[in-house]
Amino acid sequence: MRTLFRLKTQQLISRTFIHPVSLPAPGGWRAAPSRLCSSPPNEDRPRPSMLRHLTSKIKATGPIPVAEYMREVLTNPVTGYYVRNNMLGPDGDFITSPEISQIFGELIGVWIISEWMASGRPRRLQLVELGPGRGSLAADVLRVFGQLRSVLAEASVSLHLVEVSPALSLVQAGSLTADGGRAANGEDEAAYRRGETAAGLPVSWYRRLEDVPAGFSIFVAHEFFDALPIHKFQRTERGWREVLVDIDPEKPDALRFVVAPAPTLASATLPQEGERRPHVEVCAEGGVLVQQLARRIAEDGGAALIADYGHDGTKTDTFRGFKGHRLHHVLDSPGSADLTADVDFSYLRRMAGGGVACVGPVTQRSFLKNMGIDARMQALLRSCGDPAVRKQLLASYDLLTSPAHMGERFHFFGLLHPSRLQAPPTPQGLKLERRRSPAPLPVAGFAELSYT
Ligand SMILES: C[S@@+](CC[C@H](N)C(=O)[O-])C[C@H]1O[C@@H](n2cnc3c(N)ncnc32)[C@H](O)[C@@H]1O
Repeated sequence: MRTLFRLKTQQLISRTFIHPVSLPAPGGWRAAPSRLCSSPPNEDRPRPSMLRHLTSKIKATGPIPVAEYMREVLTNPVTGYYVRNNMLGPDGDFITSPEISQIFGELIGVWIISEWMASGRPRRLQLVELGPGRGSLAADVLRVFGQLRSVLAEASVSLHLVEVSPALSLVQAGSLTADGGRAANGEDEAAYRRGETAAGLPVSWYRRLEDVPAGFSIFVAHEFFDALPIHKFQRTERGWREVLVDIDPEKPDALRFVVAPAPTLASATLPQEGERRPHVEVCAEGGVLVQQLARRIAEDGGAALIADYGHDGTKTDTFRGFKGHRLHHVLDSPGSADLTADVDFSYLRRMAGGGVACVGPVTQRSFLKNMGIDARMQALLRSCGDPAVRKQLLASYDLLTSPAHMGERFHFFGLLHPSRLQAPPTPQGLKLERRRSPAPLPVAGFAELSYT
């Protein structure tokens, strides 16, 4: 178990700070004021290759959308932040819930089994994780699967990881497979890496969700949607205008925000009709992914659990950077820091459409408490005699659940097959005294879990 949790509480900083930035009125290419950060801009030398790549691109095509900037900085196949760095953990730029405590992944493992059982225990179970980081969450889930082997006995279980970073896929293979896996190099192979867990379950790595084979699947995305590129829009007297990234004319090795003088395809199509906020962020890529998830769940059965920091269509400017556990200016030293934006769950719900049932968002605190984190914590504390480890367990519980830390900043949102929330048919021959609409079946985590 991951109780080698050597960090003191005050050293752990979750990626949840929000510093709003107001953008200027439009009317030509104009500089937007930069966001406030805890670390001053230009504290490091810019990473030359990424900055050079971006400035050449802007010189060739003109200012680029924030979404293109974010995509290049994070996932460019050569110089992207996720492609080059091992950014998770105390020595990296940020820490996530699965890295804080094993209990987090274990409770998600219980959620997956609960949804598999509620779906009629299909013979094939694909566990699909989007953006698995160091593989810690999947490892904790697989340990629960091993402990509940008798429950899963009839199921053929496989693990499918959607990961854009070859470097992180190797880290994941190291923690999840017995032999480190092997590159899959057949041209018709959808997966780029394959392996087997110590228990013999097949593991496959893909660059895109659409490469994962069809079939009953439970999808998990933890701190994945916040890393997808967002478009930013500013309301003006002449309608929505897109915020773009340009070269600073006064400092050729620095970037700045500008507001497009005329509509772009994105500003003409992405902001919602009736939108009242002065500034909005739209993650079109996240919307497309949720549509794909919804279609797969409607066609093949299954569920998706999306956990991230976010809001329900209320926030305006949440784009920010993290480096060394501190806020970092998003345009400074591109490629050297993580970039992220809060997930708009109201947008994901809209994009999911009517073919699936949506549950949540509920706070991380509610979800974990409904899943029984208190009972699990008590059991771990009872079995642990070392005072230092007990202290670490309590500190990690506080980080995960306390409203001041991750408890109310992170939210859980689910997509379910519509049949999942339908009332079970009334057994034939049973006469009901009074006609009552039967209560919907509870979904673990989103309602209190009851043990019978
Ligand atoms: C913020 S990390 C979260 C890691 C992990 N889920 C956790 O909570 O510890 C984001 C993960 O998503 C991956 N990722 C980011 N953008 C991606 C994309 N467009 N396609 C696939 N994976 C992506 C990153 O390489 C990384 O593994």
